Amino acid sequence: MKKLFLSLLIATTALTASADEGMWLPNQIAQRVKDMRAKGFKLSAKDIYNEQGASLKDAIVLFGTGCTGEMVSPDGLLLTNHHCGYGAIQKHSSIDHDYLTNGFWAMNRSEELPNPGLTVTFLERMEDVTERINAGESIAEIREKASEGGKYSIRIEPMYYGNQYMMYVSKVYKDVRLVGAPPSSIGKFGGDTDNWMWPRHTGDFSIFRVYADANGEPAEYSEDNVPLRPKKYFAISTQGAAEGDFTFVYGFPGTTQEYLISDAVEYTLNRANPAKIHLRTLRLNVIREASEADPKVRIQYAAKQAGIANAWKKWQGESLGLARLGTIAKKQNYEAEFQKWAANREEYAHLLDSMRAAYARNEEDFFRREFTAESIFAIELVKMARWCGANSGAVNDARKAYIEAFFKDFVPAIDRKTAKLLIAEYIKSIKALPAGWKDEINARGGVDNYVDYLYDNTSLLTREGMTAALTDKTTLEADPIYKLYERFSGREYSSQGSIISRLPDIARWYKPYMKALREWDSKRAFYPDANLTLRVAYGKVTGYHYADGVYHRPYTTIDGIIEKDNPEIYDYNIPQSLRDAYATKNYGRWACDINGRNTVPVAFLAANHTTGGNSGSPILNAKGELLGLNFDRTWLSTMSDIEYDPEVCRNISVDIRYVLFVIDKIGGASYLFDEMNIK
Ligand code: ARG
Repeated sequence: MKKLFLSLLIATTALTASADEGMWLPNQIAQRVKDMRAKGFKLSAKDIYNEQGASLKDAIVLFGTGCTGEMVSPDGLLLTNHHCGYGAIQKHSSIDHDYLTNGFWAMNRSEELPNPGLTVTFLERMEDVTERINAGESIAEIREKASEGGKYSIRIEPMYYGNQYMMYVSKVYKDVRLVGAPPSSIGKFGGDTDNWMWPRHTGDFSIFRVYADANGEPAEYSEDNVPLRPKKYFAISTQGAAEGDFTFVYGFPGTTQEYLISDAVEYTLNRANPAKIHLRTLRLNVIREASEADPKVRIQYAAKQAGIANAWKKWQGESLGLARLGTIAKKQNYEAEFQKWAANREEYAHLLDSMRAAYARNEEDFFRREFTAESIFAIELVKMARWCGANSGAVNDARKAYIEAFFKDFVPAIDRKTAKLLIAEYIKSIKALPAGWKDEINARGGVDNYVDYLYDNTSLLTREGMTAALTDKTTLEADPIYKLYERFSGREYSSQGSIISRLPDIARWYKPYMKALREWDSKRAFYPDANLTLRVAYGKVTGYHYADGVYHRPYTTIDGIIEKDNPEIYDYNIPQSLRDAYATKNYGRWACDINGRNTVPVAFLAANHTTGGNSGSPILNAKGELLGLNFDRTWLSTMSDIEYDPEVCRNISVDIRYVLFVIDKIGGASYLFDEMNIK
């Protein structure tokens, strides 16, 4: 008995939500506020979320479909990360107007650049609709009622795998203009070399402005639109935060899976991650070679490259972290303890067995789909063929714009080479190939010749050909690339997302499993996994032990940028204006004293539980003032989507003083400060 108790204790404490783990629902933050205040928070739950009046949540937006942004002026000025605005900046860039390299600064409102397709979403209110759903009301019905005839956009999201449902009532603004972005050598300083790493010196911010119609309502882009007057915007603190100070991050974390069973972690660690990492390595090598040979190609492939490399590197860190923590074994122990409790409860006794069987039954098919998504559907022309099939019809303005955008940044030779590598890999790794495919490849004389045949004979390589394929089904269906796509269009190959545990056949077991865990492990502080809904995380500014004998301090400064500066290395080649500002100590009011040195703080660490989607999120002090923008996690944190380790997990933010310094001294856009509340 004593032994059992002890092992139970070990199993649960190891996985118990500790101080800084957790992403909490804003309308339920009252349950956390006592803990937050004990750690230094100075505001109330109502300051975070309040349906009766303006609160901090009204200053936060979902930026695009996967980042966070925040309002910093009464005239709709918005801050987010450089890497969140990157796609928009890149689309406005060419060799002649190279905003990626040189940065972009509107010097007045008429110079701001519109971005068709880019939206920002403000949360009006959220509501627990679990009881309505359990009482049989349909999701469609609930949505219909809440949307008030299309005025609001409605999302209903399961929490705890469907043990709870939350409805989100939002307004989506569609006129979002680019105001400023630093040169990539600041906004992406350190590039993929420093990505997911500390110490960090990236000025990862960009500036936009939200426009609305005369009534402050969402409207399509129009010259008549006016800057949105948000219900709330953040005050900016230039006081910084010291090690140990309370902070919180308020934003839209995308996906975490903290309650997975060990089988899922095994699949990720032993199967999915290694395969996906390898496929992306192949793609990145081709892009890197072509970019090094031609600066035009570097601009064209910059956004694609960054996207591919980001997850590629993260998966590598995640695999190392899961192995280091022994997550699989820990989960197995936890499950064994759970099973002892569940064994004599009819409702739960066979739950784990059912879950294991579900993984076993789905794994092979899921792996094939995931592999296909990372290979066949990673071929750009195959993606375009699929798009043509799905959008066939007259070439209207939207389709024309899509084709133009595609060709602006498409290099056929890169895609051809990538296709050869990915298809060869596919044939090596996947057993269940589409019927007849292998024969066709062999008949053409092997993979390389087959791919050459595809690219020599497709009509999709030109705008005219693409247009013809769109308007005429027979042309499309005769196209060899489209034929390749068709082989993979069936359910056996086309992906249902990249998360195995979300397959309905598996996910359905997590609902009772979560319910059971909350009964059994009742001391654990359960928070719902991230699902791109608004959350609050909180933690202190703090360093961490990186390795034996190596402590990472939680601050970096402009001095560190100069130490890394190297004109020979692309990722570390800073603009001359930054060197000059450093040489003359032209820091303005953005400097502070660090260890007796007069310097500009650049980035800082805190123990907030964050993930992808939290990019651009405000990191706030105890009074809710803006200290900086969250943009990354450290290398030892990358597994925190699956297991959070409070000892080492840290989020990385760019210090608002560095942001203001760059706007001022590099961008010469200090006129923007007039509309901000800088303290
Ligand atoms: N790792 C950060 C995030 O997940 C930043 C990514 C952008 N930077 C890059 N070098 N690709 O979004």
